[in-house]
Amino acid sequence: MKIVKTIDEVRSQVRQWRAQGLSVGLVPTMGYLHEGHASLIDASHRDNDRTVVSDFVNPMQFGPAEDLESYPRDIEHDARLVEEHGGDIIFNPEPEEMYHKGFSSFVDMTVLTQELCGLSRPVHFRGVCTVVSKLFNIVKPDRAYFGKKDAQQLAVIRHMVDDLNMDIDIIGCPIIREDDGLAKSSRNTYLNDDERKAALVLSKAIFLGMNLVRKGEKSCDVITGSMKELIEAEPLAKADYVKIVDCATMQQIESIDRPALCAIAVFIGKTRLIDNFFTEDV
Ligand code: PAJ
Repeated sequence: MKIVKTIDEVRSQVRQWRAQGLSVGLVPTMGYLHEGHASLIDASHRDNDRTVVSDFVNPMQFGPAEDLESYPRDIEHDARLVEEHGGDIIFNPEPEEMYHKGFSSFVDMTVLTQELCGLSRPVHFRGVCTVVSKLFNIVKPDRAYFGKKDAQQLAVIRHMVDDLNMDIDIIGCPIIREDDGLAKSSRNTYLNDDERKAALVLSKAIFLGMNLVRKGEKSCDVITGSMKELIEAEPLAKADYVKIVDCATMQQIESIDRPALCAIAVFIGKTRLIDNFFTEDV
């Protein structure tokens, strides 16, 4: 397992693999890896001869008031985890390697990004689409792996690949949770003990919503209303949104009459956490 810092090195390694007829999987991450990321690396290792894990805290997808500076980083820990899960390369560039002086091209998207996280994070998906496009161009993988934890991101990437005719299979992987239900996230490290307990309100709300759907409830207002009530009962929690949207367009719907995504974002103290479920998975 190698840590690679430059685009040229990644390209020359991938070229060698291609000359041997090997398939390549890509797992894009921002590092501080946990079992959620590990599950994506496992999936890539299963499906491909070689796996590249990118480990890059992408400045472009953070808003001015967001946590770019404090975002946790630990490349030695990440390298051990990638090695244990069968990854072959960590691509860990400096920001200047990805964004040279004078960088001025962007990949942007309408409609799908104008709901859910896109409303509270206006520049976020432009940054995600741009960096993921760059990673696709650098690695040219056969397949790329994304978690359903970031459900809107997964939908946006699928849409981008389709719109721009990128020849890459996008594989969506299930949410990995802590034993008590909290979805694993690098941002969970921001929580103090009380906040960590309070954060359980996210997965509790998700499980409540899933149960209602399982029982046949069709009204999105009824489902999101019950979930909001549960969240509001937790003093340390403040809901950013609790919504049900059409899976493909990310636009809000009134009734569960098509494949839908129920997504929530909740502030626990200053930390903004997300969780969700797809009605097709319940
Ligand atoms: P990051 O937050 O590091 O997440 C990298 C990938 O891991 C994403 O596809 C995310 O959905 C997945 N992931 C995170 N927690 C997970 C969990 N508990 N279960 C399953 N998968 C999980 O998402 C990003 O980085 C960035 O936006 C990126 C795509 C790398 C672009 O910069």
